[in-house]
Amino acid sequence: MCGIVGYIGHDNAKELLLKGLEKLEYRGYDSAGIAVVNDEGTNVFKSKGRIAELRKVADSEDIDGNVGIGHTRWATHGVPNYENSHPHQSATNRFTLVHNGVIENYEELSDAYLSNVTFLSETDTEIIVQLVEYFSDKGLSTEAAFTKVVSLLEGSYALGLIDSQDRDTMYVAKNKSPLLIGVGDGFNVIASDALAMLQVTNQYKEIHDHEIVIVKRDEVVIKDQEGNIQNREAYTAQIDAADAEKGVYDHYMLKEIHEQPAVMRRIIQEYQDDEGNLKMDADITRDVANADRIYIIAAGTSYHAGLVGKEYLEKWAGVPTEVHVASEFIYNMPLLSEKPLFIYISQSGETADSRAVLVETKKLGHKSLTITNVPGSTLSREADHTLLLHAGPEIAVASTKAYTAQIAVLSILSQIVAKEHGREADVALLRELAKVTTAIETIVDDADVMEQIATDFLETTRNAFFIGRTIDYNVSLEGALKLKEISYIQAEGFAGGELKHGTIALIEEGTPVIALATQENVNPSIRGNVKEVAARGANPCIISMDGLNKDGDTYVIPHVHELLTPLVAVVAMQLISYYAALHRDLDVDKPRNLAKSVTVE
Ligand code: M6R
Repeated sequence: MCGIVGYIGHDNAKELLLKGLEKLEYRGYDSAGIAVVNDEGTNVFKSKGRIAELRKVADSEDIDGNVGIGHTRWATHGVPNYENSHPHQSATNRFTLVHNGVIENYEELSDAYLSNVTFLSETDTEIIVQLVEYFSDKGLSTEAAFTKVVSLLEGSYALGLIDSQDRDTMYVAKNKSPLLIGVGDGFNVIASDALAMLQVTNQYKEIHDHEIVIVKRDEVVIKDQEGNIQNREAYTAQIDAADAEKGVYDHYMLKEIHEQPAVMRRIIQEYQDDEGNLKMDADITRDVANADRIYIIAAGTSYHAGLVGKEYLEKWAGVPTEVHVASEFIYNMPLLSEKPLFIYISQSGETADSRAVLVETKKLGHKSLTITNVPGSTLSREADHTLLLHAGPEIAVASTKAYTAQIAVLSILSQIVAKEHGREADVALLRELAKVTTAIETIVDDADVMEQIATDFLETTRNAFFIGRTIDYNVSLEGALKLKEISYIQAEGFAGGELKHGTIALIEEGTPVIALATQENVNPSIRGNVKEVAARGANPCIISMDGLNKDGDTYVIPHVHELLTPLVAVVAMQLISYYAALHRDLDVDKPRNLAKSVTVE
């Protein structure tokens, strides 16, 4: 979703801001803009569409200024157009602001203070910058006006403000939306994500909700709500800038699919001690083992990983586990057990829906563990514990390597908790994960076969069904999500046994039905379901596992432990989806309407 960058230093801000915004493109956006302050005032460049368009507009003028802010906008209030793009300016153009989030009381604030102002946009953001000018006109300093306005805001926000009358300061605040301060020698930056400003620094300071930050070239002053100065050390962002490049691949998604064997190996290494045993922080193991029930909270692909994790936590660790969609859970909390533990699964660690649940469960005093790819992310900082995915930056909007990493980490956690509970391990997990790694390599090497499957089954279709039973059903949900989000083919995952309770009515001549058959106990029944749809004209594509395969299966994945098949089968589905989207000439990495990091509820 919206991304923010800002720079104050001695170099040309324009180029740094544009490069920063390019690094934030992966978050999803539909317009972008920058503002650079120099002797002549504040120069604003905005454009609908991609950063490449913004660059054309910005490069049409030779602007030299060394303080500025930039923004990628994912439309919430008002269509993506020039007027609604950020930065927004106050009536006299003195103040210029970028905002990520949603202001819930913007109409009330407008009625209360700004009845004489003519707004140029339909956004909830413009009100913020107009209010700063309103309070500045009342005699407040810029810092005091900004602080006053922030205190009035309800909702989520990350804000960067510049003042054309003071080229030595940026004003920053946040609530719920992510924002970091990057520190350098003679310069400082702000960024929604460290990735954006790695070009100049890997040293970052966190900002907490409701804090006000005054950023100058040589100084960063963080103040709490009462105005007390907060001392905070910078940390080193552990991101290799090269990891965030496409390298030899045409798309990030393809690169990230190919990275999965390496990610598996890294996870095996990170969660293994010198004796070759599984290892994990003892506090985490203790808190998870003490829970009488686990509640997994997540969204999208992470929710699908949670469904697989439930299998491990129940079957291996023996802990009853529920998996909930965060955006539903927050409004409809089930009866909780006496000693619950909440696991938040999130690639980005910034998903607002999951964070809303975390805030609520913390108020209730429940323990929490975040499983995330991003150290220092909001969900990681705010939970009691964190387990990292070690997957490297995931840039493509469609999540791939994070899903397999989440499942692998959940499998390790479950085995460790099983041991804590004194349950006999019936699986040598590290060895099994090593086999999984080799199996994923085989599938990635078979990319041309996956491309052919995409051609044979999905080239012209408008819809597709994914079916499976038990754990294969969980994977079919993820397979369908992957296909629909990047190819725009209407795809749904169904439990094989549910078809004849309604869905089978949709089967027509040629309807593609992708069936997973990797589970021995349901192999006869899923194959029966395939026959039922085939008898009604469907075009079935069967992905089975070696040892359970039958003549005529479309693709056979290598044999792995039965509960670990999601890690392998999904890779075939990721590649099939990738090629289906590619053949439709679609923007695989940045599908329409979607954002990588969903930071508004
Ligand atoms: O960062 P998160 O894992 O919390 O994100 C959750 C979902 O928004 C995400 O998985 C989304 O469904 C992806 N686009 C799926 O590919």
